[in-house]
Amino acid sequence: MAGIGSRALSATTDAHEEGFAMTASRRTFLTAGAALLAAAAADAKHGALKSRAFPRGFLWGVATAGHQVEGNNVASDTWLLENIAPTSFKEPSGDACNSLVLWPKDLDLVRDLGLNTYRFSIEWSRIEPEAGQFSVAMLDHYARMIAGCRERGLIPMVTFNHYSCPRWFSARGGWTQAAAPDLFVRYCERAARHLARDIGYATTLNEPNTPQMIKWFGFPPTVFDDQNAMLAAANRATGSTHFTAANAATAADADVMLPIMIAAHKKAYSVIKSVRPDLPVGVSLGISDDQTVGRHSRRDEMRRDAYGAWLDAAKTGDFVGVQNYFRIEFDENGPLPLPKGAPTNSMGDEIYPQSLGAAVRFAHASTGLPIIVTENGLATDDDSLRAAYIPRALDGLLAAMAEGVPVKGYVHWSLLDNFEWTWGYAIRFGLAAVDRKTFERTLKPSANVLAAIARRNAL
Ligand code: BGC
Repeated sequence: MAGIGSRALSATTDAHEEGFAMTASRRTFLTAGAALLAAAAADAKHGALKSRAFPRGFLWGVATAGHQVEGNNVASDTWLLENIAPTSFKEPSGDACNSLVLWPKDLDLVRDLGLNTYRFSIEWSRIEPEAGQFSVAMLDHYARMIAGCRERGLIPMVTFNHYSCPRWFSARGGWTQAAAPDLFVRYCERAARHLARDIGYATTLNEPNTPQMIKWFGFPPTVFDDQNAMLAAANRATGSTHFTAANAATAADADVMLPIMIAAHKKAYSVIKSVRPDLPVGVSLGISDDQTVGRHSRRDEMRRDAYGAWLDAAKTGDFVGVQNYFRIEFDENGPLPLPKGAPTNSMGDEIYPQSLGAAVRFAHASTGLPIIVTENGLATDDDSLRAAYIPRALDGLLAAMAEGVPVKGYVHWSLLDNFEWTWGYAIRFGLAAVDRKTFERTLKPSANVLAAIARRNAL
């Protein structure tokens, strides 16, 4: 998840303070942002990014996730946490982008940009709002979305679980309960039987290594205090003793969740393949560009902890989904603060587009599997920074591919400005802005940058 890196390193900052990065480093942000734009212009001038082709059939896409765009996902754990007191969420998701209704407009945008892939998630809590009670109507809804992709020439890339889970599942302990893999698999099987026929690519879980990354990149201690208070309120509201949500896990839960989520991924992989053996299925992992500083850097220790078991588990899969947003340097004491003067995004992470190439190299070297970039993007209100970021990230990707890393596609996060979890709507990753009242979508210039590269299939 983007934002982890900076939160980790801002131990004295309250991550709930909106825009802490923007205020703490606004000046640096602006001057360094100008530097990024200048670097992009220089690249173009010197032809560094000139017309280099991606392979035929390369997947060019954009991503969204159900809870972040659909709106009114009322049976989910996240909806409960957003609306309880106290909550760690800055604001509730509410109507989000109203994509539950407006998904045809979203698909039209993707088609009109000339992209060929749309990654979205199906919401477990809509499909199974009560344990064992499946909604045929909601399965049909997602079947219509998948058909809608096909009608527009888009390949549907479907995430079976993107963080949010049904409230009943989380009230039973979420991913800490021993029964979690079987509960997840029952849902996956049902969904796969209804939907798999026309899906192009599937992923089981989205960034299930986030709890492990948080252990390293952490949050200021006050964030965990607030989170625990929120979870205690969720316990009271649901009569639970251990309400646990994937995106609000305590450090202790992270260790319990790891083998359970790995089992869930492996079983989900098998069940989806049993329904449709030729469907490529993988798992998406959050992978930063982790760099060593000095001779006794803890980088490799961090890699073993944050990715090791998951990279191993990902080998039960046909590809690895790589989601990259930042780099982190490690010396002998662990992660280092951002380099002085580094440009930062609106979550306080360094703007460092070169990180993508490093992340895919690492994922491929660790698994031997083909890679799909299932997320990469920039949180910023200055779209010119995003426009400069995209070709530079793709330049690094192409360099990794030239070295032999089999990258099958690039899916940008995100199509829309959407609900950025605890941060609410103030953090914007979209290629399109969304009016919060009319839900009108307005493409930003960066969308055309990605579209032009995708149309040429070349930088
Ligand atoms: C998550 C998205 C999130 C994005 C930006 C990714 O890790 O999958 O849900 O919005 O990061 O933080």
